[in-house]
Amino acid sequence: MVKRPKIAIIGAGGNVGAAVAHWAAVKELGDLALIDLKGNVAKGRGLDLTQCSAFESFNNTSFVAGEDAALMKDADVVVMTAGVPRKPGQSREELININAGIVRDICVNVKNLAPNAVLIVVSNPLDAMVYVAKQVTGFPRERVIGSAGILDSSRFRTNIALATGASIEDVSAIVLGAHTDKDMVPIVSTATVGGVPLTKLLSAEKLAEVIDRTKKGGAELTGLIGTSAWLAPGAGTSLMVESIVRNQGRLLPCSIELNGEFGVKDCFVGVPVKLTAKGAEQVYEFDLSESEKAAFAASVKANQELMGIAKGFL
Ligand code: LAC
Repeated sequence: MVKRPKIAIIGAGGNVGAAVAHWAAVKELGDLALIDLKGNVAKGRGLDLTQCSAFESFNNTSFVAGEDAALMKDADVVVMTAGVPRKPGQSREELININAGIVRDICVNVKNLAPNAVLIVVSNPLDAMVYVAKQVTGFPRERVIGSAGILDSSRFRTNIALATGASIEDVSAIVLGAHTDKDMVPIVSTATVGGVPLTKLLSAEKLAEVIDRTKKGGAELTGLIGTSAWLAPGAGTSLMVESIVRNQGRLLPCSIELNGEFGVKDCFVGVPVKLTAKGAEQVYEFDLSESEKAAFAASVKANQELMGIAKGFL
């Protein structure tokens, strides 16, 4: 029997989880299992979404929802969005004491109930939560991946499009390193607009503004909305799910345990990876500029410190 992929979304009652569900349903990526401590909220989110399908021509009638972790049984992809979001003025790092325990406990269920899943972590502080998920599940590194670089890159691309006035479709740019305001690394050396190097299109001053706005992109939105963003985080994460369930081989920046790539070992940090049915099948290395190398090294150091704190919860 041909089966649709099963995608479990944990924290589906929350904004980010519901946004992942939304994009996944619209793209018909598979059958959704919507799980949340607030089971009725997860059920309501699923039903509300399903009622859109009459207008938007997608089929979402086979979803299941509730608070029972067993709903994730044998999922092909598990998306972890559980945990608290940041408030205005708060850093992602400050969430570690609450979210590390939540992610740890849920990952025990992932390990037991969905042992063959690719696990995508979205909870913050992102890189440290991917570390917790990897330690608890014991899954191979290609099946424990963090969703953040894809979001930071979409903010970088947006800011470049706004600054140049060019279509975002022609902007190619990535953000690597830690998913923190202080240490993420927008990569300028490879950024292009329609194949033209970004450095030819923007003055040094304008470029510095674009980089600064990108790094503080999450905080900007949290300040405006009063809680952290969800549409772009959900859309980016669903693109990762799509590349996995459709075996597309998209090259996207994701957080993964490095095993010598970029000269780094035993640290979780954002790098370009190829996403296939196997998960993060391959890490792609390339030469960073000297200043990017220094910023990437600072990112690694900051993430190692956060991983040290997260270790206390294991
Ligand atoms: C952000 C959160 C989701 O950057 O990490 O918007």
